[in-house]
Amino acid sequence: MCGIVGYVGKKEASPVLIHGLSKLEYRGYDSAGVAIIEDNLLKVTKCKGRLANLEAKLNENPIHGAVGIGHTRWATHGEPSDLNSHPHSNEDETISVVHNGIIENYLQLREWLSAKGYKFMSETDTEVIPHLVDYYYKGNLEEAVMKAITKMEGSYAIGVVSTHEPGKLVAVRKDSPLIVGLGKDEFFIASDIPAILNYTRDIYLLNDKEFVVINEDGIKLLTEDGDEIKKDVFHVTWNADAAEKGGYEHFMIKEIHEQPKAIKDTMTSRIVLGKPIALDKITITKEQLANIDRVYIVACGTAYHAGIVGKYAIEKLARIPVEVDIASEFRYRNPIMNEKTLMIVVSQSGETADTLAALREAKKYGARVLAITNVVGSSVSREADDVLYTWAGPEIAVASTKAYTTQLIAMYILALYFADCKGTLSTDEIESIKAEMLKLPEKCEEVLKHKEVLQKFASKNFMHKDMFFLGRGLDYAVAMEGSLKLKEISYIHSEAYAAGELKHGTIALIEKGTVVIALATQEELFEKMLSNVKEVKTRGANVLAFAFEGNETVEKTVDSALYIPKTAEILAPVLSVVPLQLLAYYIAVQKGCDVDKPRNLAKSVTVE
Ligand code: M6R
Repeated sequence: MCGIVGYVGKKEASPVLIHGLSKLEYRGYDSAGVAIIEDNLLKVTKCKGRLANLEAKLNENPIHGAVGIGHTRWATHGEPSDLNSHPHSNEDETISVVHNGIIENYLQLREWLSAKGYKFMSETDTEVIPHLVDYYYKGNLEEAVMKAITKMEGSYAIGVVSTHEPGKLVAVRKDSPLIVGLGKDEFFIASDIPAILNYTRDIYLLNDKEFVVINEDGIKLLTEDGDEIKKDVFHVTWNADAAEKGGYEHFMIKEIHEQPKAIKDTMTSRIVLGKPIALDKITITKEQLANIDRVYIVACGTAYHAGIVGKYAIEKLARIPVEVDIASEFRYRNPIMNEKTLMIVVSQSGETADTLAALREAKKYGARVLAITNVVGSSVSREADDVLYTWAGPEIAVASTKAYTTQLIAMYILALYFADCKGTLSTDEIESIKAEMLKLPEKCEEVLKHKEVLQKFASKNFMHKDMFFLGRGLDYAVAMEGSLKLKEISYIHSEAYAAGELKHGTIALIEKGTVVIALATQEELFEKMLSNVKEVKTRGANVLAFAFEGNETVEKTVDSALYIPKTAEILAPVLSVVPLQLLAYYIAVQKGCDVDKPRNLAKSVTVE
């Protein structure tokens, strides 16, 4: 996710900006840049790749000036490239902007500004901002930015400098983070505290649509109407390491808590009530879809588990047969593929070697490939015919969490789109699932509040050597993901089982005290699931169950239970996986494991 820094003071801005950006590297990025006012001229240096590339460029051609903005970009609109990197400027290079967030109505704004003669150089949504500020500039930078934001929909934290008022920096935020650092005769803006901790521990925390205007006279905080605001200074007492994790102990738990936002972002502008599902630039037509007779979903690990949920969703809603394959197996089993095949590859990183190999295999047979990935410009995104991005933001912990839930959302979006094209669901049915989807971020927040039950269960059971995860239907798919989470970060052996299959052999392993995690969210299968739970209970298992609120009868059968808010059954995995992620996390923490970097694992597996 993008990182922003800004500086107004007496020092050289360039090293301050580079240092700040280096402290934001943990957010993930693919390019970086700075804009500094030097002798009343705007000097911009930016490039694709690591911060070291930018530093090298700046060492070769230094920029001297004490007012500037800097940015690390994590591509969303437009591939990572020098041109798409921030800062972005107006045509005569008098105004420069860094931005974190997404301007949802950028296409309309681009059209509107183009009609007024503005020229665009990049593919980014951000580039509309310097042009808007230029359009509204009548001698006061903050007033121009205030007018510009009235036109902008979406999320933003922006920093703006201009040669019209060379000593000034204006910044504002909405739904994207931005803090202000208060030094001695110097001021900073940043996306996160570590970027400025070297210089000051005193900060202002900005609320949505609050402006900061910094110049040689000092600092002013303003409302969107230009009225001055007074704010308490917040004194930072934590160390930089903790701050990078936003106060969380590990990236994994931070990312688990980012899920409501990640889910919401992934639905943004695609799922809107009363409007057809919008699939970005995906070009598959109704006619092409009618011609598809088989869908393969191919992926690895967590992404494979998201694929299994995708199979249920596409088959149930769009009535197209789907096979789900582990990527490393797929290409060696001589699969039947031709131009009537649609392959959906799922990969958070977009660089997984097995998934890429499967994608290339499918293309050899003339199959159409649609990728679901989290990384713009990744190999998978470049080689697929169509891409649907998950907007989870960078995932740093090796154990995938927010990537999984956003992959589920992407699967539902596709399933609904296919159902609409094929006419397998009525408009009312589609609208009702969309309405339920839009409530998921809030319900996910609710689930995140139930930590105590899980922490208690973890502290009582972390010493076990084996655990079982049981479920039927979609609950079985989620059980697989819960089991993988536990294995990879706590090193406890676990197995996910289709609850009805257990009695065909594996039940022999159940004895007094065996831990069983039972998922029971699927209404039609609820009673059958309870019977399977009774089978393990009578053999001595210690059962923790997850069910929808309202199904408290489950307590008569199990040892402990946790309830998740009711949603459409097909969407249950988005909520039921969250307690499983938390459970794995708390068990791993109790065991003292290296949660973010589990042994033997890598975040991106680029070897076959
Ligand atoms: O980047 P990808 O989604 O292609 O990665 C696939 C798997 O390697 C990944 O999901 C892995 O299973 C995770 N560590 C699970 O938490």
